[in-house]
Amino acid sequence: PPPSMHLNDPAFFGRAARPRRHNSHKGSYGSVFVLGGAPGMAGAPVLAGRAALHAGAGRVVLCFAGEPLAADAGQPELMCRAARDVDFGGAVTVAGPGLGTSAEAAGLLAAAVASAQPLVLDADALNLLAGDASLCEAAARRTAATLATPHPLEAARLLDTTVGIVQADRLAAARTLAARLNAFVVLKGSGTVIAAPDGRLAVNPTGNAGLATAGTGDVLAGLAGALLAQGWPGWETALAAVWLHGIAADVLVAEGAGPIGLTAGELVATIRTALNQL
Ligand code: APR
Ligand code: MG
Repeated sequence: PPPSMHLNDPAFFGRAARPRRHNSHKGSYGSVFVLGGAPGMAGAPVLAGRAALHAGAGRVVLCFAGEPLAADAGQPELMCRAARDVDFGGAVTVAGPGLGTSAEAAGLLAAAVASAQPLVLDADALNLLAGDASLCEAAARRTAATLATPHPLEAARLLDTTVGIVQADRLAAARTLAARLNAFVVLKGSGTVIAAPDGRLAVNPTGNAGLATAGTGDVLAGLAGALLAQGWPGWETALAAVWLHGIAADVLVAEGAGPIGLTAGELVATIRTALNQL
């Protein structure tokens, strides 16, 4: 039978957005650790961290596989640590932005995968998983929600196939990966596909080619981490993050800030507005 599939719409995730209680504090909104930032790749975790802050996480810590950036990272609200000093059992982790694929990065990723907290796997976290069957099995055994956000090449590496085959049947590729990793999978690109481990599928209608620029994936991963930290379930998080990321790009294009020359950092404030309007 054909897979059940719907067009992603706030009707499917909007209820997960709860108004803030007056009597709340930063601990009410969770912490996000961004595991990334190998030497020379600090920009990716900074973008993910900025997205997580502006999507409402109570606290965001950048955990660098390389030398930590100086404390303010261009955004003084972000804390900067050496990843080897961080206990990944303590918060939602967004693993992968600029992480690199060194042996040290692999060890840090294994610690994040072993945590009982929700986890977002992006970029080099996916590249490391693709070469490590036992880490894939560990990911599939996790009890908390896992989100994986591959672009088509990352998906092809995970499935040990080609981009052409992934793109020829994006629904099947996303669904296969979701079952294999026991994760909510976001297969990115024009018409992003979201798949759940139980076979549910959605295709996202928002977004445009202005997003085809470096760093937009990092912003998506940070946004998803912030929603998980605020207690959103995995499926609703995946749907909402992709929809909000796309609508922000659509709003910016309507304002003349794209598609040509849209930058990833510019998405962040517009995502915040869209999230507050859900
Ligand atoms: N239409 C709609 N959305 C698009 C389009 C398009 N034409 N092109 C790109 N996007 C969206 C994708 O759906 C995704 O959300 O932009 C984002 C791009 O994410 P990535 O492909 O991960 O790009 P990027 O952020 O530059 O990744 C940075 O991480 O994945 C690694 O190796 C990769 O060097 C790269 C780095
Ligand atoms: Mg990416």
